[in-house]
Amino acid sequence: MWSIAGAHTEYTVAVGESGQWLELVGWGPRGVSVGPSPLAFHGRPQYLTRGDVAAVEYATDGLRPFLGADLVVTAGDGTRSASWTLAEVVADPDADLHADLRADVVADHGLRATFVDEVTGLRCVQCYRFAPGTDVVERWVELHNGGAAMLRLESLGSAGFSVPTPHGARLSYLCGQWSQEFTPASVELGRGRFEIGSSQGVTGHQFAPYLAVNDQRDPGPTWGVGLAWTGSWRIAADTDAAGLTRVRAGRALTDGPVPLAPGESLTTPVAAGAYSAEGLDGLARAWHCYERQLAGERLERIRPVVYNSWEATSFDVTAAGQLALADAAAELGVETFVVDDGWFVGRPDDHSGLGDWTPDPAKFPDGFGAFVRQIRAKGLDFGLWVEPEMVNPRSALYAAHPDWVYRVDGRPMTTIRHQYLLDLGRDDVYSFVLGTLDGLLRAYPIGYLKWDFNRPRSEPGRPGTAPADLDLDGAHVRNLYRILEHLRREHPAVTVEGCAAGGGRVDLAMAARADVVWPSDNTAPLDRLRIQYGFLAAHAPHLMSSWVTDARGLFDDRPRSAAFRFVLASAGVLGIGADITRWDAATRKLAASWVARYKQVRDVITRGEVHRIGDPSQPRCAVQYTLGDRIVVLAWHTGALDGLGHLPARDIRLPLHGLDPAARYRHGDTVYSGSHLTAVGLPVRWTAEHDADLIELTRSTENDGR
Ligand code: GLA
Repeated sequence: MWSIAGAHTEYTVAVGESGQWLELVGWGPRGVSVGPSPLAFHGRPQYLTRGDVAAVEYATDGLRPFLGADLVVTAGDGTRSASWTLAEVVADPDADLHADLRADVVADHGLRATFVDEVTGLRCVQCYRFAPGTDVVERWVELHNGGAAMLRLESLGSAGFSVPTPHGARLSYLCGQWSQEFTPASVELGRGRFEIGSSQGVTGHQFAPYLAVNDQRDPGPTWGVGLAWTGSWRIAADTDAAGLTRVRAGRALTDGPVPLAPGESLTTPVAAGAYSAEGLDGLARAWHCYERQLAGERLERIRPVVYNSWEATSFDVTAAGQLALADAAAELGVETFVVDDGWFVGRPDDHSGLGDWTPDPAKFPDGFGAFVRQIRAKGLDFGLWVEPEMVNPRSALYAAHPDWVYRVDGRPMTTIRHQYLLDLGRDDVYSFVLGTLDGLLRAYPIGYLKWDFNRPRSEPGRPGTAPADLDLDGAHVRNLYRILEHLRREHPAVTVEGCAAGGGRVDLAMAARADVVWPSDNTAPLDRLRIQYGFLAAHAPHLMSSWVTDARGLFDDRPRSAAFRFVLASAGVLGIGADITRWDAATRKLAASWVARYKQVRDVITRGEVHRIGDPSQPRCAVQYTLGDRIVVLAWHTGALDGLGHLPARDIRLPLHGLDPAARYRHGDTVYSGSHLTAVGLPVRWTAEHDADLIELTRSTENDGR
């Protein structure tokens, strides 16, 4: 038996029957594996295999599990059957190993278990690692074809996670569509299968690669699974008759099997598992902590307050118009001015131009370099929008390289937003995209890059190549990662924002490679509050880019104040996207004061521990951020504003979390005890003019109640 330890949790596996698999023994708080495993079964599997009933960590089709396998391999002779023999288990040699009461080995970080299929020569290393300082266990599989024949991987999961759900499972997930991403949803699964995913060759707007599982009668202990993959994916949950829910996460091979030639190796994406005893909100904190760890030292850098001109000017970009916006932005305290779509040649609208990444001389008559210098002379850093994996049929790039796009020979092609997707898995396309970005970053002093992706992949083909020899999705995604990693290495000062028609490309792999992401194109106050609330269930605030705009709601268009919009956009990384040249002097003054206020608290917001209070469907809706002795509470009034203040009413109370009951917390002249803030709550009082607030409390050392 082997146990690996996270910050507060542990994950314990044992070798199953006859050495054919690893099975889960315990996953939960430290010490949870000491005692009989809740996953062990007794009784005979009737009309099932033992591989169906045991908590198998990574099931192959060779175990004949009727309920599904993580890995399905077709051998050279067409037979489908990989069966493992355990070769060795190695606890991470770098980890500090020590004996435990029950587990044979405890590794602080990782474990590698190697299995071999004697018939095909396929080697499979099942890998485990707790990301340091977190409660997230990363799992992935390294496959190597050590045989003489070509293998085809028909199903290529990253991991299976078993969760005890004696009363049936409650599954929580995040679904959506363009302009309505990250909508929390849940389903009760007594028996059967539930599946989410994307077949779009990109993470997608429809579902986030995030699934949380509880027992139906116990909202406390919560297990979560996420996937670090930016192509097609699936996360499926099966709840069986004996109270076990198995979650399988991995790539979705929508183009057909992935070939693995003799001598070739392949590593699956990381499937990440998180545990919290504190329900969905506690699970959110486990994911936040993990994403901070993924950001590494880049967490420390300040994500600038941006102004982005998209909603103000759309494609109507001119040097004069952008400079006028930049003047206003500088006055508000904005740090980076981002020119969005429409700056390059042949781009009067979204019908043409993608692929031709040369600044349009008609729009920048004094030259783009001079324009960028003028922006920077205002004390602003400069940012630029690009969509480098795309091409319009009406572009010089497409005329020169019609074979660079995904296409099935002899079949018509699908346009979405009048554009095609470049096959980034090709070496020439990879070099083009890398060269384009390098070229722009070297030619101009650019401090911020917004990398967009406005259409999913539809055509499963590469001109002139047999589909059976390709892994289009894998090649595209890996080259995307290579380029993002190159940008970090070669242009470390550049902040990268990930965007895909809003939040269509947000996942753990992007969280590790982008500094911020754009959760949605919907910037209207009440709509976006819902989106951000859902986003924070899975992702950390340092990633959450948000702008103050004048947008009307698409789903809920009840008016809210400018303050509401500023408090909302301050919940992560603040930006402004309105046409600020139209704002009157009073609005600009107010805006400048909000920007200044945000800068004072942004370290608490982007790095603090997050507790979501209430939710956007309730009158009580707030987010608490705690960093050391500082607490910032952002609160919004989501109900009707009429009549407020005219009749007797009591304050809304926001119960805070994680405080020392005996300590004193000060907001202005008001002092609260930790007990009061926890048990009674922080008071807020809304009026038609005051529908949101940013409240900073500081733990005071004097007046301590002890
Ligand atoms: C996408 C993005 C927007 C904007 C436009 C530009 O829709 O999500 O923010 O950049 O493209 O075309």
